[in-house]
Amino acid sequence: MPITKAPSLLMKKFLKNEIGNSKRVLDIGCGDGVMALYLISSLNCRVDGVDLDKGKIRRANEKFRKRTVKGLALCRFCDSKNIDEQFKNETFDAVLIIHALHHLADLSSILSKIKYILKVGGKIFIEEYRHNFGEKLDNCPRFSSNKIKSMLNTAGFRYLRDHKIHENFIMITAVKGGIK
Ligand SMILES: C[S@@+](CC[C@H](N)C(=O)[O-])C[C@H]1O[C@@H](n2cnc3c(N)ncnc32)[C@H](O)[C@@H]1O
Repeated sequence: MPITKAPSLLMKKFLKNEIGNSKRVLDIGCGDGVMALYLISSLNCRVDGVDLDKGKIRRANEKFRKRTVKGLALCRFCDSKNIDEQFKNETFDAVLIIHALHHLADLSSILSKIKYILKVGGKIFIEEYRHNFGEKLDNCPRFSSNKIKSMLNTAGFRYLRDHKIHENFIMITAVKGGIK
């Protein structure tokens, strides 16, 4: 069952403030491209999506073809554990993991690969189900916001922040630090 439909007004405002216009964004576990479509069509971002579900990838790319400027978005088949092979060092201004963290294995390795492909000052966005939400939907693990922040801190991200966008979801952002 899809949890993410069109982003809410609050989410749109949040993404506009936190990502901004014309940025380069990677959406990990992008599904059928709902979030990407908003970022492309309203914020003029360039979005790459990765997912493992070929049906969702096809649907995302169809949406992009019909509703956005050619070349601004591409969803491809790629396991999150291989993003450092698909994308170069310091490519992205923002990386999103929306309702997908609980599907991913070896999170510490994935977070360090995300740091590799993010620009210095680039942001990671993790939205996850709250502990008591969606338990009947799958058998995947649930994370508290403290657990997510602790993993990000260990991976070397800075400026960890908790945002209240939706009563059932945690939204955490963090920044790749460094001198440049
Ligand atoms: C609950 S859906 C969320 C989709 C989308 N982010 C949204 O909010 O609508 C989780 C997505 O993560 C994808 N996924 C699961 N494991 C993955 C992996 N290792 N690498 C990339 N994507 C993965 C699934 O195929 C699925 O499309």
